[in-house]
Amino acid sequence: MTVVSAPGKVYLFGEHAVVYGEPAVPCAIEKRATVTATPRADDHIRVEARDLSLDGFAVEYAGSPEDRPDIDVSESLIEAAMGYVDAAVRQARDAADEPNAGFDITVESDIPLGAGLGSSAAVVVAGIDAATRALGEPLDRRELADRAYRAEYDVQDGQASRADTFCSTMGGAVRVAGDDCRTLATPKLPFVVGFDGGAGDTGELVAGVRSLRERYDFAADTVAAIGDIVAEGESLLAAADADSEASDALVGELGELMNINHGLLSALGVSSRSLDTMVWAAREAGAAGAKLTGAGGGGCIVALDSTEETKRSLQYTPGCEEAFRARLATEGVRVEEP
Ligand code: MEV
Repeated sequence: MTVVSAPGKVYLFGEHAVVYGEPAVPCAIEKRATVTATPRADDHIRVEARDLSLDGFAVEYAGSPEDRPDIDVSESLIEAAMGYVDAAVRQARDAADEPNAGFDITVESDIPLGAGLGSSAAVVVAGIDAATRALGEPLDRRELADRAYRAEYDVQDGQASRADTFCSTMGGAVRVAGDDCRTLATPKLPFVVGFDGGAGDTGELVAGVRSLRERYDFAADTVAAIGDIVAEGESLLAAADADSEASDALVGELGELMNINHGLLSALGVSSRSLDTMVWAAREAGAAGAKLTGAGGGGCIVALDSTEETKRSLQYTPGCEEAFRARLATEGVRVEEP
């Protein structure tokens, strides 16, 4: 039995635009998915999922997950969780050159599904690492991040960048532009997250932006402008002292860029009424800036505020189900039990 965890993330800047090669800066946060992998004597996969912010379930199958017996849980939940677990197992089998390896897999996660906090990337990263280690073929972190990206790419029909999976593997803040993935030394940022209890469909949302970008030059310019915001944010971060709390001036400037970034994402059609409501509640509570995080459509916003005001205000905002302070996860993927 091998147990591995990997963190979720928030986007300081750059989601969606990163799909077209623009830079993005996601930051890993201390909310984790934990995957346990135990090799089996046969080629079956048994998946048990708990705490996916929905009811848990267990499924056993051989061949493809579509062959699973009927079970009494929502189809979308199975599809969401099983697709990623299955893609992780395929990558692990391929990496270890054991095409028929079977596993008992347990997934436990405190990252809400599809809410912009990188739940699928964390499950895929932890899943591939746990399964390859269980087969005695651990991967180095660059290969793990690459295989996790390929797994997400397959499940999301090619609508994925390397940002979520690289961030979850490495931890901390990272900068991703196309295939160029780097870790970033940043000061500590006072992230506050608001969650509306919902989720967006990443594939659909990415496809929507793609269609706008193909039809209108100004939508393509909007995507490029998000890249410009990221470049501006990066130079602010590079000039700051990485080992300390971010200064008020830096938080103020980053917040302003986050506000513009949210406006552009909203123009591209990926915000929602509840995300906009939480963004405005955060700003009115004194946050330096606020934006949606991840694919959008519903789920989470991220704000910067070193006081307790934004969190408190979000807790009383209609439509906000949960608000919490998110600490940067400096550790990425982590072996919990070898
Ligand atoms: C989803 O968390 C972030 C997107 O940019 C898609 C991706 O980068 O794969 C919307």
